[in-house]
Amino acid sequence: MRFGYDIGGTNIAAGLLNDENKLIVKESRPFPRGQGTDAVIGVCEALYRSILGKADVSEEHITGVGVAVPGSVNADKGIVIDAHNLGFHDTPLMDLLGAALHQPVALINDADAATLAEHRIGALKGTETAALITIGTGIGGGLIFNGELYRGGRKNGTEPGHMVLRNGGRKCTCGIEGCAEAYCSATRLTVDGAKLGHPSAKELIDAARNDEPEALQLFKTYVDDLGSYLASIVNLLDPERIAIGGGVCGAGSFLLDPLRADVEQKCFFKTCPEIVVASAGNDAGIIGACLIAE
Ligand code: BGC
Repeated sequence: MRFGYDIGGTNIAAGLLNDENKLIVKESRPFPRGQGTDAVIGVCEALYRSILGKADVSEEHITGVGVAVPGSVNADKGIVIDAHNLGFHDTPLMDLLGAALHQPVALINDADAATLAEHRIGALKGTETAALITIGTGIGGGLIFNGELYRGGRKNGTEPGHMVLRNGGRKCTCGIEGCAEAYCSATRLTVDGAKLGHPSAKELIDAARNDEPEALQLFKTYVDDLGSYLASIVNLLDPERIAIGGGVCGAGSFLLDPLRADVEQKCFFKTCPEIVVASAGNDAGIIGACLIAE
């Protein structure tokens, strides 16, 4: 069996995957923000013991551990290069966690992990060329080329959320101005929604659905930005399919219908690839992390 972590800025989620690619036990605990790397390793270790205990599985049955993180990684050396939302920079996570768990540890970008899961069991199954864009606190993305996950030429993981959408635009968490993440993430809806008294992406979208003029205008601007972004990805990759994931997809056809129309209008090609909702669910990151474990 394989063990996987999806480390996010809010929670650390972990789980145990059996040979049929099913998570048999999972658990999550708050990310110990601002408490340093040792505290993060402590939470990871506690999750490991707790999950193995609940599953009644002993350590000898774990063949490897995978870790998904929201940032760039050096997969060969097991170093998190920059995960701004975690405050990890040049963090040797593979060695630190490996020493705590006495297991081989493999590292992967969180969106790449989710892409692997979507390709194996979800919305990208059967594709040769495809992309997953995860819309959450940040924007993550993973690419499938020739039927396999493309982890970047230097295996740092690709970072499509940091393609610049506006010169001199909003400041992104990475420090650069105008990144797609600053315009297409759920955080953008939350920040802008708060100014209208709707302090979450869901509340803002509900208000737009109820025809509140300012909320509707904001939502339309968001669709326009996300559409431009996805159309650029289509033009770059010519993929068979693009899946989008994250809580905002809960808006269903209210988001997807205008988004598809917008991408179609901006796409260079005569026909636009399918845009579908990711289907491997919230556990895609953990599942993908497990899948890269040796
Ligand atoms: C990070 C990506 C990550 C995405 C989603 C971005 O800010 O740069 O590495 O995949 O957030 O967590």
